[in-house]
Amino acid sequence: MPLAEIKRKIKIAPSILGGDQANFAAALEIAVKGGADQVHLDVIDGHFAPNITFGPGTVKALRKRTDLKFDTHLMIDEPEKFVDKFLDAGSDLFCFHAEALTGERFDALYSKIHSKGKVIGLALKPSTEMPEWVEKRLDKLDTLCVMTVNPGFSGQSMIMSVMPKLEKITQMLNDKGLPIDIEIDGGVELETLEHVVKRGGNVLVAGAGVYYKPDPIKAVGILREKAKQAIATGAA
Ligand code: DX5
Ligand code: ZN
Repeated sequence: MPLAEIKRKIKIAPSILGGDQANFAAALEIAVKGGADQVHLDVIDGHFAPNITFGPGTVKALRKRTDLKFDTHLMIDEPEKFVDKFLDAGSDLFCFHAEALTGERFDALYSKIHSKGKVIGLALKPSTEMPEWVEKRLDKLDTLCVMTVNPGFSGQSMIMSVMPKLEKITQMLNDKGLPIDIEIDGGVELETLEHVVKRGGNVLVAGAGVYYKPDPIKAVGILREKAKQAIATGAA
């Protein structure tokens, strides 16, 4: 079956971790002005991944400035300890790491998040294959986030060895008839996006791909156009 059997809309999600860390509000404004579909907020606790970023207080302060979808990527151990705080802060999508959860713990988080009208996603590190408990719960997901760098930092190069896994995931979601978002996180640039878009990735997280550019506002639209072109030229 062809990879592009389910058509997913291209969405651009600037990751403010790539922006000015002394001014996340400015990074958010760039995403809004650039016409981003959602803004990607990387929460890292220094345990799950080797960096410390920001927490619910920052998310809450940013929430006052926009209605844009807050795609919250929680690279943290024991996410249960913080989920209420991020609900209160105004996160829309809660993307947890499969490596930090079990099926039962996911189920509890799912109930809580959906009872508040918010949605849930799962992320996989580059070297993590989809666990069986995740496969059984794909119909509960808004987003499956395929990481193409190891969690921690903006500005890393895309890890190409993830491509076979991405193909497998896209195929699996298409076979199950699940039109959920396939988010690609890490090293998405004009030069690399073709590899992931042709394999089914539709939500493109971009830190360096937006914020390291001379005109980051324009970069959002340029990424989107390039991704659409890549789709138009066919499957991988
Ligand atoms: C890495 C983060 C990514 C990162 C992406 O831990 O999850 O979202 O900010 O940055 P780029 O696009 O620069 O690789
Ligand atoms: Zn991320």
